[in-house]
Amino acid sequence: MSVAQPVATKAPATTDTLTIRDDRTGKTYVLPIQDGAIKSSDLSKIKGSPDDLLGMLTYDPGFMATAAVKSSITYIDGDRGILRYRGYPIEEVAQKCTFLEVAYLLLNGDLPTGQQLADWSDEVTHHTFIHENIKKFIDGFRHDAHPMGMLMSTVAALSTFYPEAKRIADETPRRKQIVRLIAKMPTIAAFSYRHVAGLPYAYPDNDLSYAGNFLNMMWKTTELKYRPDPILERALETLFILHADHEQNCSTSAVRVVGSSKADPYSAVAGGVGALYGPLHGGANEQVLRMLEDIGSVDRIPEHIERVKKGELRLMGFGHRVYKNYDPRAKIIKRIADQVFEVTGRNRLLDIALELEKVALEDEYFVSHRLYPNVDFYSGIIYQAMGFPVEMFTSLFAIGRTPGWLAQWEEGLLDPDQKIARPRQIYTGPAERHVEG
Ligand code: ACO
Repeated sequence: MSVAQPVATKAPATTDTLTIRDDRTGKTYVLPIQDGAIKSSDLSKIKGSPDDLLGMLTYDPGFMATAAVKSSITYIDGDRGILRYRGYPIEEVAQKCTFLEVAYLLLNGDLPTGQQLADWSDEVTHHTFIHENIKKFIDGFRHDAHPMGMLMSTVAALSTFYPEAKRIADETPRRKQIVRLIAKMPTIAAFSYRHVAGLPYAYPDNDLSYAGNFLNMMWKTTELKYRPDPILERALETLFILHADHEQNCSTSAVRVVGSSKADPYSAVAGGVGALYGPLHGGANEQVLRMLEDIGSVDRIPEHIERVKKGELRLMGFGHRVYKNYDPRAKIIKRIADQVFEVTGRNRLLDIALELEKVALEDEYFVSHRLYPNVDFYSGIIYQAMGFPVEMFTSLFAIGRTPGWLAQWEEGLLDPDQKIARPRQIYTGPAERHVEG
């Protein structure tokens, strides 16, 4: 049997190569490895026959092993439970930074100086109001509309108010929409809550912090000035920071995919809000609360765990595509919970959550599947203790995630490697056939 000579790419000088032998043809291919990856497009050189025009594809539902971007924003080591924003450990930024500092960091690559922070905060603060017609738009929703549906549609509607948002190649209008989105997300989220509650809208108070102003728009009633509890204000600020970015998750990928067609940022972020809404992603925090309510008492936990193990249910707030050891955000959240409960009183669901975590962490099923509490397991319990209705939980996540979405959107836009997202498929339908008659 003759051995085919290597074809296709020339072997680079280093040993960072992958040699593939195609047993269909006997040909061998040497593909360069860069940054631990091969280029999928190099696989197209591997052809089963001369009329195979596409060449070899990779089949990867859910992008389990596909890097679609190069990014310098967020680093995650899922095995070691590490999360860093632009190199800073999440534990440090959560403790020492404000949310707007973190937003600046994600968008610009470095933490702001004192002056840069003052200017940035001023800019965001001056865009917290929404056009009065947007208020009318929110008025049009049903009395029981879900806040995430309202948020998604209203963010999309913003693109009609700022037509210059289409000028994504110009830095000045591009940056202006980024500021507007970060500034207006809390306003839209709070207004959608007030709409459902039948309360008059509370306008932004620009003397307050980003989180403090959001609490004001949620809860202000007849008082002349709303003064947030400083512990709850800082807790919410920290929760926003913990959610600010998480590299190429489902919603961020949605933002990047929409952005890859050069759509305006409101349309791209509306796509991200839609992806976040789902119960396997940001919607999990709402589902955790519903699950804890359903379980109802500690003695019913074993029965629930058995149902999960039989595959009848998923343990919401457990498991993560990337973290297979622990989610560092969940650890920080657990500490925040203690501070919040000092102010609000202990959430009765906490005992169920703590016991559920204990049982699950010792159980063979969860250990062997490497399932640990994720960011959503405790966040809902805190939000509920702070008075947020369950339906609002995912909107709180969306507010926090907005700077990350926008940093990733802009990075994709400016990356010369990026192209319109357009995956391939493996067609499984009928071969050509014809309509009779
Ligand atoms: N409860 C019970 N079993 C689970 C869970 C869970 N929460 N999560 C995963 N598994 C099991 C699966 O049944 C599967 O088991 P099998 O191999 O025996 O069939 C195995 O673990 C792998 O699960 P996948 O769904 O393939 O893992 P994937 O990485 O695709 O999913 C996800 C990750 C979606 C987060 C999943 O763990 C899940 O559904 N968790 C519950 C929802 C949740 O909390 N989502 C929030 C994620 S964090 C965030 O978005 C901010």
